[in-house]
Amino acid sequence: MKKIIITIDGWSSCGKSTLAKQLAKTLNYVYIDSGAMYRAITLYFLRNHIDWTNEEEVNEALTHTHLHFEYNPKSSQSEIFLNDENVEYVIRDLVIAEKVSDVAAIAAIRSFAVAQQQKMGTKKGIVMDGRDIGTTVFPDAELKIFMTADISVRVERRFKEMFEKNPNITIEEVRSNLEMRDYIDSHREVSPLRKADDAVVIDNTHLTEAEQLHYAIALAMKLI
Ligand code: DC
Repeated sequence: MKKIIITIDGWSSCGKSTLAKQLAKTLNYVYIDSGAMYRAITLYFLRNHIDWTNEEEVNEALTHTHLHFEYNPKSSQSEIFLNDENVEYVIRDLVIAEKVSDVAAIAAIRSFAVAQQQKMGTKKGIVMDGRDIGTTVFPDAELKIFMTADISVRVERRFKEMFEKNPNITIEEVRSNLEMRDYIDSHREVSPLRKADDAVVIDNTHLTEAEQLHYAIALAMKLI
């Protein structure tokens, strides 16, 4: 079967990674969470007190920021490593979510991440989710999906997920974080979040996971 590149972009917490993981598993493709790279860079910068508005400091810090993914058979997914430490779970914290959009808006940081993402796609057979995958990372991808859902549904989903790990979190904190990230991600100068002209929109406000997967598989099957 022909191998293709599938990109999934969209707003925060609209189920991109859920769909991307299931789609990759069904097609026996590699799944890459590009947001995890920006989160891991943010973690490194916070731990090392790097001022991301200072170009020199950023460039120097990036030479010490080594990222790679490793497949974990237990979780059945690729997990991200920062300088050989598995940070897949730490990067999901609200402390990171509060800063990641600012860090991801810096041009040098985007070039650093995009170059690595493009290398991962050279053999195709990949599903990558993020904000600029169909527009900047793989503008020639065979299948581009743009996901959206009502903000109240997205807040509810993310709150449930975060509440399990941190029962002190409030729904208002989750809502303001999502709204802030969506705003910064779609208004930044360098490759802002937007739907690629040739992307197919999936609004999953009223769709089950099984329904959205079924639809995405049908789209992919036409191309492979
Ligand atoms: O997908 P996520 O919520 O884990 O992404 C975290 C942040 O990283 C998101 O707010 C914006 C940024 N991001 C980006 O700018 N470009 C990408 N391709 C992926 C994520």
